[in-house]
Amino acid sequence: MKINKLYWKISATFLLTMVLVGIVYIFVSVHTARNYFKEVHQELYGDIAQHLVQETKPLANGIPDTTATHDIMHSMMVINPSVEVYLLDTTGKIIDYVVPNSTVKMERVDLAPVKSFIAYGPKQFIVGDDPKSPGEQNIFSAAPIFEHEQLAGYAYIILAGAQYKETTSTLLNSYFLKSGTTVFLTALAGSLLVGLLIIWLITRNLQHIIEMVRRFKEGDTKARIADAGNNDLSVLSTTFNDMADTIEANIEELKSVENLRRELIANVSHDLRTPLAIMQGYVETLSIKNEQLSSGERQQYIDIILGSSEKLARLISQLFEYSKLEAKQIQPQKEPFFIAELAQDVFQKYQILARKKGIELHLDQPQNLPLVFADLGLVERVIQNLMDNALKFTPAGGKVSIVLRESGQSVEVRIADTGPGIPEGEQSAIFDRYRKAPSTSGRSAGAGLGLAIVKKILELHDATIRVQSRLNEGTAFWFHLPAYGG
Ligand SMILES: Nc1ncnc2c1ncn2[C@@H]1O[C@H](COP(=O)(O)OP(=O)(O)O)[C@@H](O)[C@H]1O
Ligand SMILES: [Mg+2]
Repeated sequence: MKINKLYWKISATFLLTMVLVGIVYIFVSVHTARNYFKEVHQELYGDIAQHLVQETKPLANGIPDTTATHDIMHSMMVINPSVEVYLLDTTGKIIDYVVPNSTVKMERVDLAPVKSFIAYGPKQFIVGDDPKSPGEQNIFSAAPIFEHEQLAGYAYIILAGAQYKETTSTLLNSYFLKSGTTVFLTALAGSLLVGLLIIWLITRNLQHIIEMVRRFKEGDTKARIADAGNNDLSVLSTTFNDMADTIEANIEELKSVENLRRELIANVSHDLRTPLAIMQGYVETLSIKNEQLSSGERQQYIDIILGSSEKLARLISQLFEYSKLEAKQIQPQKEPFFIAELAQDVFQKYQILARKKGIELHLDQPQNLPLVFADLGLVERVIQNLMDNALKFTPAGGKVSIVLRESGQSVEVRIADTGPGIPEGEQSAIFDRYRKAPSTSGRSAGAGLGLAIVKKILELHDATIRVQSRLNEGTAFWFHLPAYGG
């Protein structure tokens, strides 16, 4: 509906403009044609007053000599009926005339244009008083009349007299207003038709655009303007389509982020619930059956509760760490340090646990390893997480080793075990958060965050974690840290 209003508005404006242009055109062309005629006429006949004065003696002692002049004046007017001949005295007073109908209404004419005409000649377009039409200016020819070397008066000839006016106005009417108007009206009709067609085409495109914008507004994010590059409003159309693409992409991204967030919340609440439920169960048992329990049983329950709460604490701190890494809130504070010393520390820390699980622990590093440039605390977290896994998955009698090697401008850190290995198909997925071994395998299930944290920390050091694993033979994880000054 709105679009039709727009169409009619534009059309009406266009129509009005065309009509105005037409009126102005007719006015201007008629006016210029008139002036052009007059100018040409004055140039052609401008010196007839001079001829008149030369051929006759219009004045005799200041008095018009009618017998001498009237004949010749009449003859002139017969040849050229548009002229009207007047004789003026030196003050501009009309003292004699030979004009048809004798309808002279003025007694004198202004001498200023007459003098200017005499001074500059007929080449210049000059108009003066028309004695038959007071207030109107007309083209004329003029010449001074001398008697005994003295200025006695002027011959003043109106060139476009009443007869001329009549003729030209009929001429204009017939010629310009008929042929001109026909041509003009045809052109007007033609351009109107073309104009309205173009306006219709443009507004039709606009209608399609508005329709798409409306559909987009109503939630159809797939709405696009067809043939956007080729229609008349291509800049608007392509801009809209680009904008729609961007918005749609943003919405998709938001959706996927939202899905991840939901998944995370679901996983986290599941992981938190399990140890919490265990703790709750044993605490309840302790509280209700406290008297009936042997001290051995009581100690066993308390150990279970302790284990669960430790697990919970570890899980929470891992979650915390991971989300901070994810949100890029942790920036590595890089410094040069001895990776050999760090490896030695970690090795010491895991000795007790390894011994308890019956696992052989090795530390293999050459002398004079260079310093590395990295965040000490974060690198320690990486090695710890890898050691946690190695010790967790390797059965008793197995072997876990930390191996350091200088390699080019960096130091390679490798943690290898003789555990069950990771199936080929799973190797790429273990670094994703919440990717972990099925708890049915009987191992103590972790949160699945350890390797995700490792990956994130190494990303902050522009390093990548790599894995090599063979089923039932063992697994090795390794990464490189830049040597200091290297
Ligand atoms: N040394 C390893 N030997 C065998 N499997 C491993 C080893 N390290 C990691 N994995 C596999 O990768 C998964 C993800 O490890 P991780 O992110 O540390 O989570 P979590 O230890 O909590 O299970 C583990 O659940 C396990 O399936
Ligand atoms: Mg782990």
